[in-house]
Amino acid sequence: MKDEILRLLKGNVEGFISGQEISEKFGVSRTAIWKYINQLKIDGYEIEAISKKGYRLISSPDILTNEEIAGSLNTKYIGRSIIHFDSIDSTNNKAKELALLDEKNGTVIISEEQTMGKGRMGRNFISPKGKGIWMSIILKPDINPLNVAMVTQIGAAAINKAFREMKIETLIKWPNDILLNKKKICGILTEMSAELTKVNFLVMGIGINVNLDEGDFTEEVKEMATSVKIETGKSLSRKEIVSRILNNFEVLYEDFIEREDIEKTISICRENSILIGREIRVIKRENSINAKVLDIDNKGELVVQYEDGKRENLISGEISIRGMKSYI
Ligand code: BTN
Repeated sequence: MKDEILRLLKGNVEGFISGQEISEKFGVSRTAIWKYINQLKIDGYEIEAISKKGYRLISSPDILTNEEIAGSLNTKYIGRSIIHFDSIDSTNNKAKELALLDEKNGTVIISEEQTMGKGRMGRNFISPKGKGIWMSIILKPDINPLNVAMVTQIGAAAINKAFREMKIETLIKWPNDILLNKKKICGILTEMSAELTKVNFLVMGIGINVNLDEGDFTEEVKEMATSVKIETGKSLSRKEIVSRILNNFEVLYEDFIEREDIEKTISICRENSILIGREIRVIKRENSINAKVLDIDNKGELVVQYEDGKRENLISGEISIRGMKSYI
């Protein structure tokens, strides 16, 4: 009911709708309508109420609900169902749970905060309330598990494109980080359930530090991570970023799934790569080897050359890439 009233108010921002009209439309009392309006106000909606005139929506909060995002989506199935939480342990965990219960392809799980956000390699991921984007997309592609790494790169390309559209000059640190001013603002954690030759489902978790302040990071994380707000001095609309990402993602993902065409993704990853041309350290388990990054090839693999002249194509897996002295 609350969502229906909100939809009605959203469709009528020019004028007032009387409590009587709303109560007749939904067949509930005017007192009940008043209660729903108050709940919407608690959610952050600014609603003008004038006696004899009724209610008018003045502004909407930057929350990541279906009601706030759906209007800016031009996708067929990605994000067409958004399941929103105020707080949750990890959107990836929830997404996996729902995927097992047959949740459909393209559903997005978003939470305003995560109490146990997960990063790659067992790290935790700071996810404070209302300040970032903590979301997971459920995907059910008919692909070989060997090609799953490509989906992460499609995600990275979609996120980078979204920021560039908003004039934020991010770069991609292959394969799954997005950087701003050489520090990480976003990480992707893709998890999958698969058999030897068949993917049951994928969960692509995206964590973006949008409006976090310095105090939100621990000293250790601060060395390598930042937020868009810290770097630009401005708060950004999280819902705009989410809808841009989902819109971009579906186009690139469709190319890959329907036409096996990964060209656009690869060129975004190449043109916006912070690694190509750099000296890096490739960390495989305990070993750290110096290398120069030559390219990202047509399969999305990172082409590196070691100091002894040998070349290797790295596939994203359990390797870490670092700058020679620092994070990058
Ligand atoms: C990394 O950089 O190591 C990957 C971070 C991925 C974080 C996101 S936030 C939404 C989703 N839920 C999680 O628990 N993790 C991912």
